[in-house]
Amino acid sequence: MFETLEKAPPDAIFGLMEAYKKDSNPNKVDLTIGVYQDDTGTTPIFRTVKLAEARLLEEETDKSYLSIDGSPEYAAVVQELVFGAGHEITASGRAATAQTPGGTAALRVGAEFIKRIRPEARVWLSDPTWPNHPQVFGAAGLAIETYPYFDSAANAIAFDRMIAALKEIPAGDIVLLHGSCHNPTGADPTPEQWTQIANVIAERGLIPFIDFAYQGLGDGLREDAAGILTLCRPGSEMLIASSFSKNFGLYCERVGAMTVVTPSAKAAQAALSHAKKCIRANYSNPPSHGASIVISILSDPDLRVQWESEVQGMCNRINRTRRLFVKTLAAKGVTRDFSFIERQRGIFSYTGLTKEQAQELREKHSIYILDSGRMNVAGMNAGNIDAVCQAIADVL
Ligand code: LMR
Repeated sequence: MFETLEKAPPDAIFGLMEAYKKDSNPNKVDLTIGVYQDDTGTTPIFRTVKLAEARLLEEETDKSYLSIDGSPEYAAVVQELVFGAGHEITASGRAATAQTPGGTAALRVGAEFIKRIRPEARVWLSDPTWPNHPQVFGAAGLAIETYPYFDSAANAIAFDRMIAALKEIPAGDIVLLHGSCHNPTGADPTPEQWTQIANVIAERGLIPFIDFAYQGLGDGLREDAAGILTLCRPGSEMLIASSFSKNFGLYCERVGAMTVVTPSAKAAQAALSHAKKCIRANYSNPPSHGASIVISILSDPDLRVQWESEVQGMCNRINRTRRLFVKTLAAKGVTRDFSFIERQRGIFSYTGLTKEQAQELREKHSIYILDSGRMNVAGMNAGNIDAVCQAIADVL
């Protein structure tokens, strides 16, 4: 069975992160995987996470199984974080949330749930999108299509082409949208564009599936939820995959949630019962530690205020770094207009660098970005931004 087995190709993102770790150059810079780094180049554990963990250590009384869909307290805090306090969707009970191991499992549970209840539905992904999206939806057995999203000549959303394509999608198909901080481009719709997207979705009877992995890292926690809220109309249906890897720094704890929004509380419970079938056959029930931290922080008013300020601090640093990057490139004599980087949001930007330039950055300068030209802006800091900009000037 295994004698003649060939190696599978490395993952487009984790593969490069591993190559970076093996690079012996002391001046190497990792701008690959989507992990926030502070100005000293470290990925800190949030102060509020440490406080919540200390509390858990004291107070936790058992390590028994959670239920298949996880903790109800967790579902409540997740919904409040997504929709805001007192939203009609939560008040009416027409949403149901399952706790999942990370945002990836939220996407996979959502995908298998769709395959179970509407196997003929196709999933429409933005072109480009996170390289794992086609793998996740493909693994669930769903047919995948793409809609245009990015105009690389203008370094902005190809909005007219996007809307024209959405208008052609058959009713009942699934449209994957990035709630904020589009991965990989960093280009998000404006509030007016969100309204137009929501209009087409409602008119066409499409089901939005929102990947919401970066809430708070674009402009702020509530600001980044504005796009999703535009899609929330009376009777609207959608799925939302939340991740708390970035906005709680809980990457290795695998904390996420799959929320399904339906027209009624009864439909929400029916939907959840099917999602639970998918979960039980997959990982049975979710791990508890990371989600307990999230509950503990979001349900304690003091911790919550401190956490919100930690998230806003990350957000501000990312946007400062964007401005400094553009300024430093200009100071290095780069004449190409990179001002679009300042308009993009979240930790990623499409730099417009080619695959060859990305490889040259890696091979000559030990600066790692993805072959697509995607860079993790949050990997730059006062100690390395000069070298990164000098190297980019060199490869250009
Ligand atoms: C990324 O795009 O780098 C992150 O979402 C991490 C991952 O799992 O790929």
